[in-house]
Amino acid sequence: MKILGIDTSCDETAAAVVEDGRTVLSNVVATQIPFHAEYEGVVPEIASRKHTEWISAVTREALDTAGITEHDLDGIAVTAQPGMLGSLLVGLNFAKALSYALDVPFIGVNHMLAHLYASRLAEECPDYPFLGLLVSGGHSIICRVDNFDDITVLGTTIDDAAGEAFDKVAKHYGFGYPGGVAIDRLARQGDPSAFRFPMPNLYKGEHRYDFSYSGLKTAVINQLEQFRIKEQYTQADIAASCQKTAVEILLRSLLRAVDDTGLKTLVAGGGVAANSLLRERLAAVPALRAVFPPLSLCGDNGAMVAGLGYQYLARGDRSLLNLAARARVLGFKKKYP
Ligand code: KG4
Ligand code: ZN
Repeated sequence: MKILGIDTSCDETAAAVVEDGRTVLSNVVATQIPFHAEYEGVVPEIASRKHTEWISAVTREALDTAGITEHDLDGIAVTAQPGMLGSLLVGLNFAKALSYALDVPFIGVNHMLAHLYASRLAEECPDYPFLGLLVSGGHSIICRVDNFDDITVLGTTIDDAAGEAFDKVAKHYGFGYPGGVAIDRLARQGDPSAFRFPMPNLYKGEHRYDFSYSGLKTAVINQLEQFRIKEQYTQADIAASCQKTAVEILLRSLLRAVDDTGLKTLVAGGGVAANSLLRERLAAVPALRAVFPPLSLCGDNGAMVAGLGYQYLARGDRSLLNLAARARVLGFKKKYP
């Protein structure tokens, strides 16, 4: 089955064709970064306008690169939640119209589950259950994964998402946009022990696997001098120390979940899963198999949507044409220890 996958949830206009949920025939991502960079953040109105301008051409390119026409498609998958509403609606309505015109089934999928699926486009899926780490600009989730559509949230951020913290710090210091990419790059020249930033204190009860980034963000932006260890420091030192603490915060909750659940495999996904320190640190955890998508599939893309969509369509699931776009994640179970 050849599935067209479309994602317009944020600032990338993305379309891809994937065969049988595994083989990526094309993966076109038109990034809007230059249009948002001057504002150092995503401007929702610009994002939806660009999606509207680009969606047809990006889809055409995905079909051409795959060497097929729209008449060879067996189904269409699209991100329906979560994301910026105005942006989601462009891809969702485009996908609905195309599926109606071609008379092929369409399925709306969850963007975070699609991120979780991304590594399956490069590697065999580990046996269920495993742990999932979903870290993007708007979400940070540690979960138990029992199937491609069945996750139980163990922990999440109680305030900012990991990517959001990177983005806000980078914006404040003018490191560049997107912030996570800029900090990852700058941190390579910096000293991670130049500052000792505080760690959140959430170990107990219902927050056992939760974490928080607002304290780190405030410390780096507003109270820098208070946490200085080194006499002289550079911008790279700030980036390296901030990145180190951000990764520690995730690892602390994650490793607690590894210990408690006994699950020995972790699958990561989302833009922050591209972070080089996070990848290095997780790869070094003894007795844990950490599976990451290739860098090209960590950020938003249509291939992960097509791959996940195939799994639903292959078992007969269909979305109705009145499916609504939703800004927030719906339908994840939350389970506390
Ligand atoms: O998944 P994604 O592309 O879009 C959303 O669904 O949000 O994630 C974007 C986020 C941004 O916050 C960006 O700064 C962050 O991922 N990011 C990174 C890296 N690359 C992208 N964060 C840390 N290190 C990176 N290398
Ligand atoms: Zn994403």
